[in-house]
Amino acid sequence: MADKAPEDAYSAEPFVPSRGGLPALRKAAAGCRGCPLHRDATQTVFGTGDPHARVMLVGEQPGDQEDRLGKPFVGPAGKLLDRALAEAGVDPAEAYVTNAVKHFKFTQAEPRKRRIHKAPTLREMTACGPWLARELELVEPELIVVLGATAGKALLGASFRVTQVRGTVLEEEIHGRPERLVPTVHPSAVLRADDREAAYRGLVADLEVAARALA
Ligand code: URA
Ligand code: SF4
Repeated sequence: MADKAPEDAYSAEPFVPSRGGLPALRKAAAGCRGCPLHRDATQTVFGTGDPHARVMLVGEQPGDQEDRLGKPFVGPAGKLLDRALAEAGVDPAEAYVTNAVKHFKFTQAEPRKRRIHKAPTLREMTACGPWLARELELVEPELIVVLGATAGKALLGASFRVTQVRGTVLEEEIHGRPERLVPTVHPSAVLRADDREAAYRGLVADLEVAARALA
């Protein structure tokens, strides 16, 4: 039984179809039980957007509203991200948007109380990685925008530090493919920042680096 498997055995791999495009992948992901996060979440929140997008945006994991609606970045962080993208000159309609982890992880003091976002563990990120790897393989974006530390660790390894590399164009091999990436802060971090305006400006400046890399 999957629930009895040791933590190291967490993996989406057995659920990922070997053939088919994004629609088949999305359908299969809806039934993923590769780690325990599917148990308490409402649904798998798979990536959305242009299947041939030039830019792929990778977040951390769905939040409360994404979990309910089944789409990434539709809550407050997503609204802020859309605004920042538009300001930086990246058309959100031309992007593919997804997350490193496809199920919402949360804590809840009591039933019907507010669900509080909880960061996924490295094991959960690793377990969910095969979905992101296939999204990259199918969409083949020219550029990946890495939104925050979790996405960075999922794509570039545990030593990733967003403060060291934000706003720069990295060239790395990811899942055996050469990729160009621009890391930046997570839009939720902007919402939590003491100086929100400065944090927002920083996000826009990093996204402008991405826009220039795509030009
Ligand atoms: N934060 C994320 O990282 N992803 C979402 O989809 C929403 C909020
Ligand atoms: Fe599968 Fe990822 Fe959900 Fe875990 S978080 S059950 S690996 S889709």
